[in-house]
Amino acid sequence: MAKTIGFGILGAGLIAPFHAKAVRDTNGGKLIAVCDMARERADKLAAEFKVKVYYSLDEMLQDPEIDVVNIALPNHLHHAAVLKCAAAGKHVLTEKPPAMSLKETDEMIAACKIAGVKFGCTVQCRVRKSIQAMKKAVDSGRFGKLLHADAIMKWYRSTEYYHSDAWRMSRKSGAGVTVQQAFHYIDLLQYLVGPARQVQARMTNLAHPGIALEDTLMAFVDFGCGAQGVVQASTALWPGTDVRIEINGENGTAIMAGEKMLTWKFRDERPEDAEIRSYGSTSQATGARGAADLGHADHRVVIQDMVDAINENREVVIPVASVRPTLEIVLAMYRSAALAQPVTLPVQDDESIWAWKT
Ligand SMILES: NC(=O)c1ccc[n+]([C@@H]2O[C@H](COP(=O)([O-])OP(=O)(O)OC[C@H]3O[C@@H](n4cnc5c(N)ncnc54)[C@H](O)[C@@H]3O)[C@@H](O)[C@H]2O)c1
Repeated sequence: MAKTIGFGILGAGLIAPFHAKAVRDTNGGKLIAVCDMARERADKLAAEFKVKVYYSLDEMLQDPEIDVVNIALPNHLHHAAVLKCAAAGKHVLTEKPPAMSLKETDEMIAACKIAGVKFGCTVQCRVRKSIQAMKKAVDSGRFGKLLHADAIMKWYRSTEYYHSDAWRMSRKSGAGVTVQQAFHYIDLLQYLVGPARQVQARMTNLAHPGIALEDTLMAFVDFGCGAQGVVQASTALWPGTDVRIEINGENGTAIMAGEKMLTWKFRDERPEDAEIRSYGSTSQATGARGAADLGHADHRVVIQDMVDAINENREVVIPVASVRPTLEIVLAMYRSAALAQPVTLPVQDDESIWAWKT
């Protein structure tokens, strides 16, 4: 019989309630506790979901009811927390980006492997039905030769959003549209058409004076498979419109807007295509207008998968190792913007990219 899997959420900030609701809505998962060093935040979330409260990870890791820790900390703090969870024998689901360097990412993957715990990442857009249909079509060769893979994210975040916490204004802590918001959609391109060969990026600040970050990314990407692509991502464009993922091959075109399949057209029309065109809903919020302008359905799928992976003793569907190439593309984009020239992958970690001023 399947065991009930206990979850503890580390970090009770903006994304934490989405994790809490998602755990609540799983079959076989149970939220046990939340933890935040900001006591009032931890208390508020714990009271809302009627669970235990902790104020330090060390304390929460002592709790035998917790099987999985969901890491919902600022990006630069994921690494240390994941290592502690692995050492305590807890499975880990980390928010994106998994860490701020390839070295840290590799250390976390190795620690989880040695500890024999699962290590997943909530790049939850991958589980959307529209994306899964695109992935299946790419993998089965239905597009033919892949020609273009583009992500267009014209979003809006207010100046108040950036000022709401110190880490949101620090590139080294993981802020900036490229590593923070666009990470999801760069990840989708990487997931769908494979790793990149070369990137050329330009980063600017269009609408957030006083914040030393890029709020806008424009990048050309050459993928290893031969396709080329554009990533256009911004948090400067009020009021924010649905993100678009566009894949073009010699035999077909697929476009997702938000989570909705907007275009699904292949030279060889198949009976299942009519249903695929109905995938997704235009009414489902996907983050365009604010950080909390989001549903929790995709997180629920990722968390359900963690429950099932533990019970079935299998790998999770989004292991962190599969997200590492996305981080590599992002790091290459920062390097390219800093140098104002194309950068060929693979890249090494380079601390100077965080100090570079937009
Ligand atoms: N998957 C998504 O769609 C999505 C959306 C938003 C944010 N995120 C990710 O979620 C993570 C958190 O983002 P957020 O917007 O919720 O941040 P946040 O700043 O709102 O929340 C982070 C919380 O962590 C707490 N914290 C910091 N250090 C701590 C420590 N050592 N011990 C305990 N608590 C600590 C802070 O007090 C804060 O409450 C980030 O990695 C971000 O990229 C993902």
